[in-house]
Amino acid sequence: MWDERYAGEEFIYGTEPNTFLAENSHYLSSPVLSIAEGEGRNAVYLASRGLEVLGVDGSAVGLAKAAKLAASRGLNIRTEVTDLATYTPADQYFNGVVSISAHLPGEIRKALHQRVEKCLRPGGIILLEAYAKAQINRDTGGPKDVDMLMSKAALEAEFPNCEPIMAREIERQVNEGRFHNGLASVVQFIARKKA
Ligand SMILES: C[S@@+](CC[C@H](N)C(=O)[O-])C[C@H]1O[C@@H](n2cnc3c(N)ncnc32)[C@H](O)[C@@H]1O
Repeated sequence: MWDERYAGEEFIYGTEPNTFLAENSHYLSSPVLSIAEGEGRNAVYLASRGLEVLGVDGSAVGLAKAAKLAASRGLNIRTEVTDLATYTPADQYFNGVVSISAHLPGEIRKALHQRVEKCLRPGGIILLEAYAKAQINRDTGGPKDVDMLMSKAALEAEFPNCEPIMAREIERQVNEGRFHNGLASVVQFIARKKA
């Protein structure tokens, strides 16, 4: 499905970074893991800020475009095609993990978040934005399956060893390509791994 969606020349979510990430990237330091990276707009932005980034995604087509986007800007990112249902990053390796619109079935997401928490070094940051449960009533983007949408309470429970810096559900305009377009209910979560 994603390879097909990414098959054309167009960058489906644009080439500009997610706004929440751009506003909060000062929390991040290298190395950074970006899960569900897609076509690279977020990893390329982080690389432009001097960060060392590994972008992982299930779509080889998306990640090929990501590498091309980075090269077109004279930047370097690492990419890895992987299934997030099983992906297991090295323990205590990353100083930051970025997750933007990584909507997965709830059970897969919960297990992934355990592994994500483990891969953070003490003091490392998880920065996540996703559509909230209330987004099910809107047609401005996101999966049409409430199980794949997130909540502040669920994220706090899924990262028990991280101290929240910001955890909120808000409505905001998301204008990031034609599939994410309009007033949206989102959950925003930034938390620091405890020592
Ligand atoms: C909504 S897109 C977001 C892309 C990117 N984070 C962005 O903000 O532009 C969701 C991404 O999740 C990826 N994805 C979905 N399920 C996956 C899985 N099980 N394993 C790996 N990637 C997956 C898709 O390939 C797609 O690139």
